[in-house]
Formats: sequence, C-alpha cells, structure tokens
Amino acid sequence: MKNNIPIVLSIAGSDSGGGAGIQADIKTLNTMKVFAVTAITCITAQNTKKIRKISKVSPNLVEEQILSVKEDFKISAVKIGMLYDKEIMLKVSKCIKLLKDIPIIVDPVMISKSGDYLLKPSAINFFKKEILPKAWLVTPNLHEALNLSGMQVIEDEKDIKNCCIKLNKFGAENILIKGGHLKHTKEAVDYLFHNNKIYKFTSSRYNTKNTHGTGCTLSAAISGNIAKGMHLIKAIKEAKKFVDKAIKNSLKIGSGHGPLNHFP
Ligand SMILES: Nc1ncnc2c1ncn2[C@@H]1O[C@H](COP(=O)(O)OP(=O)(O)OP(=O)(O)O)[C@@H](O)[C@H]1O
Ligand SMILES: [Mg+2]
Repeated sequence: MKNNIPIVLSIAGSDSGGGAGIQADIKTLNTMKVFAVTAITCITAQNTKKIRKISKVSPNLVEEQILSVKEDFKISAVKIGMLYDKEIMLKVSKCIKLLKDIPIIVDPVMISKSGDYLLKPSAINFFKKEILPKAWLVTPNLHEALNLSGMQVIEDEKDIKNCCIKLNKFGAENILIKGGHLKHTKEAVDYLFHNNKIYKFTSSRYNTKNTHGTGCTLSAAISGNIAKGMHLIKAIKEAKKFVDKAIKNSLKIGSGHGPLNHFP
C-alpha cells in the first residue's frame, strides 16, 4: 500500500467540454501520478466553440469543499483557477489563510478563449487585494498581466520586467508571464520573475487552434511538480515540456478550439 503520493488541491471551475478548468487539472495531475483533490467554484456549460452558461457554486459549498479536503489530506500544493466573483474569492481567501506554508499557485483566469468573462470585471480590484498577495506563484497571460499591472502595453523584455515588479509589489512572490498570446513569434516564450531576476522558458510555437486549456494545464503541471518537491525553475521547465507535448499532439475534436492531449 502506498501512502506517500503527492496531493494537489485544485480550486477551479468545471468545463463540461473537458479541455480546461478542473477537468484539465485532474487529467494533468493523473498523468503526472499526483493525486488531485478539488473544490469546484463554478459550473460552466461549454464546448470547444462557446460557453452557453456559467453557474457559480454557493460560496459556502466552495468553503466546505476546501475545509473537507484540508482536514483529511496532506496537501502539498494548491492551484487556484476560476474564481468568478467577490463572494467566492472571499471564501477562498479565508480558507487559504488556513493552508499555512503550502505553496499557492494562482492562475488569474479572466477571459475564456471564446471571449466570456471568467472573472467579473467588478471583482478585479478585489482579486488584486485579496488573492494576489497570497500567491507564491501567479501565472498571468499577457492580457491578464496588462490588466493586473495597469500597464498599457507589453512589448519587450523591459516591459515584462516592469510588469513583474508591479505585480510583485502587490504581494505575489514569483510571477510567470506567459507569452502564448504573442501571435507572431516563432517561439512560445514565458518569463519568470524570481528573486528579482528574469528567467526565460522557450519552446516551439505550434500553429494550431487546438489550444483550449493551455493555461490550466501549465499551472496544474507546475503545481504537480512543486508537490513532488521540485524547485520552482525546474518545475516550470518540466511543466512547459508537458504542455509542449500536449499541444503538439492536441486533439482535433469539436469544431472550435480543440483540447490539448494530456496523454500523448
Ligand atoms: N501555439 C502555441 N504553441 C506552443 N506553446 C503555446 C502555444 N500557445 C500557448 N503556448 C504555451 O502554453 C502555455 C499557456 O500559455 P497561454 O498564454 O496560452 O495561457 P492562457 O492564455 O492562460 O491559456 P488559456 O486560454 O487556456 O487560459 C505557455 O507555456 C505558452 O507558452
Ligand atoms: Mg488562462
């Protein structure tokens, strides 16, 4: 019998299409042989083309899910994705204060690939005040990095560093800015701000529209690696390799943005 499997708590939304959110997190962690426990914040009715409906889980039930797994499991890392509104954030913020010394990895999910709000614009300031300061690592894409930092443009590495410094001042310890949305580059480059230095992670860019769930998969893979005890830089490097392979072998299922292949 085995009792030392690393455990990650994923606090995120459910994607009925299976490509992103809690489904992507569980698939990623399973593939990595990490045990996933979950707290679902919202249920989305969506496919590869669009989101038909979002219904939030009652904030009390979000809290109960987190407390239930916290009291019974030795959680080694927490991954936070879709939080949607202030009420859910308030509960999550309260609960993660109880998870002392556990690295909190926050993917600041704001807008879906289909253009729908996954974080209400009215809740962004609250997110900056309550959630960002609790993040050991935050993983914004370019759009989220602009929005959270209040910067107008991010064009070069100097802008990336300035943006990271701003987010660091909000309290996030480490910042990974993902370059997936820089469309006209030959490579997919992500930038990590760690101990006041910038580290670059580069991989091939694939010309595919099947990128549903890239962000969730990357942050879940980082969380899994951290739960296994890897250093941050290695955890990101390995997670990026995982995402690279999953995009390279992505699935042409559905007629919109198809999902990654978590079992390549
Ligand atoms: N076309 C691509 N080819 C290779 N790597 C990519 C591609 N698109 C994104 N990536 C990589 O996928 C990871 C996630 O980045 P991305 O910028 O897509 O996040 P995101 O916008 O948060 O994703 P999501 O829309 O799923 O929330 C990063 O490591 C990025 O470099
Ligand atoms: Mg994202």
